[in-house]
Amino acid sequence: MPFDLPSNQPAPGREKPKAEKPVSFEPSQEMMIAAVTPAEAREKKSRKTMLERIRAVDEVIFRKIGAETGDISKHIEQIEVLESLATGKQKERKRLGDAGINAILRMKFEREGGGEVVGFMKQKSGEAYFDKDGTNLIYSASDEKYFRDESSEVDPTQKMIAEQWSSEEFIQEYAVQMAKAYGIPSEEFEKYKASLRVDRFGPRIDIPPEGFIAREVAMSRVDMLCGFDVIPPTAAREIDRMVMDEEQGTKIVKDLASVQEGVSSIDSENPSRFLTAKEFDAFQEQPPSEWHKIIGIEYTPEELAALEKDGRLPQPQESMARLATLDWVMGSQDRHFENMFIDPVSGKVTGIDNGLHSGRARDLKIRHGREETVVTEGKRVKQKSDPTEGMRQLRSIPLEIMNAQQELRLSRKDQEQMKTLYEAILNDGPQKEVIEQTYKMMFDDLREAKVQMAKFVARLKYVADNGRPGVTSSEVFPIGQFTKAMHAEKHQEAN
Ligand SMILES: Nc1ncnc2c1ncn2[C@@H]1O[C@H](COP(=O)(O)OP(=O)(O)OP(=O)(O)O)[C@@H](O)[C@H]1O
Ligand SMILES: [Mg+2]
Repeated sequence: MPFDLPSNQPAPGREKPKAEKPVSFEPSQEMMIAAVTPAEAREKKSRKTMLERIRAVDEVIFRKIGAETGDISKHIEQIEVLESLATGKQKERKRLGDAGINAILRMKFEREGGGEVVGFMKQKSGEAYFDKDGTNLIYSASDEKYFRDESSEVDPTQKMIAEQWSSEEFIQEYAVQMAKAYGIPSEEFEKYKASLRVDRFGPRIDIPPEGFIAREVAMSRVDMLCGFDVIPPTAAREIDRMVMDEEQGTKIVKDLASVQEGVSSIDSENPSRFLTAKEFDAFQEQPPSEWHKIIGIEYTPEELAALEKDGRLPQPQESMARLATLDWVMGSQDRHFENMFIDPVSGKVTGIDNGLHSGRARDLKIRHGREETVVTEGKRVKQKSDPTEGMRQLRSIPLEIMNAQQELRLSRKDQEQMKTLYEAILNDGPQKEVIEQTYKMMFDDLREAKVQMAKFVARLKYVADNGRPGVTSSEVFPIGQFTKAMHAEKHQEAN
């Protein structure tokens, strides 16, 4: 029987009737923002929470540590860069890539007190996913929307992943494992289970969209704490985006973005670039002490002696070991050829695109009876169960190189620095607070944050003791090996 609802009533089941509030005749804040939809309000809250968490990390690292320790001028410089990246007035803006799976923008900011900073900006809503049926969802930068890529074939691996991830069996098992690992009381994990339901899948499946912005910032702050300087300063900022709304037409919405300082080089005529496939092979085959020759860098005996005296190593050896260390302690999952640069003049390597690390163990782990299977890249492998390690499918060219070079270690000075950091964390120094805040920023659940932080600290100790990451080749997906031919072709490398 058809019936009409009074127009001011929500459809049955759509909305809970709200408790009556005392009527106020002052134009309140609530009345002013009445046009905001519940989704927009949620969005605003998550954005605000994330910005607050990021600020909490920075308060400690810059106000407490920056003022007390290390190379103060370097810290001040970094604070200045970060402040421009987070609040600076935009002077120029260029979108990279064509149709743009990822909406990365190259921008110039006016620096407080003069000068410019080049930043690469990624918006929270700029990701690519795949759907349950295995087809790709492509983000159109101009329409600010996901579209199904009709031309692409269904990817069987994607389809299998999506089917498994969304199966009742997987979700149940996963929730049970996670509850156990993180000490979540059983009455709470049903709630947790609900949060696992997703309708889009991607490599960042277990990381909510604002989570990879947090991770971009996290990698930069841990780099600063280690004194490595192999990650460009990275900030988060609120931005305005223009979107098409079917009812309201074009409108401006707020979004969250990470901005990273452009990788610089010491000679602007010779800008930093990606590694070549040939260099990648050579780094695995030749002794690290000879690496600088691979990229055509000469060190005089005096320069080598001076480095030795300072407990340092020639580049690219030193920075490669640093980046490998960061990739291991943070659990990098995306350090392929185009996510690192090498300066052809200084030999220093730098990591970019740091949104994908510190996974939440949402791996393709599924239990059939007593047997447990982990599915990676379409292959099934049996694995011991530790759900908190589940997402540590490391992908990192520096770690691949490290595995091929068992002699390669951090410089003496860097290992000392790792010891100092580890001890500061043990002794409740402000460094511990930075790490705590960093893990809170990345993991919503406090218990999860704690467990993940404890694992980070254990890895840090390993590096402090051994001077290198505690990684074996079976833990690293050989992304460089896998893609070097493609990479060489794409960049038409001379042979
Ligand atoms: N800090 C930076 N300095 C110099 N170039 C950068 C920087 N950040 C990004 N770029 C350039 O933009 C390209 C794309 O950036 P990035 O790797 O961060 O995103 P993406 O690869 O599109 O994203 P995803 O890995 O999430 O798919 C890089 O390969 C690089 O050429
Ligand atoms: Mg990238």
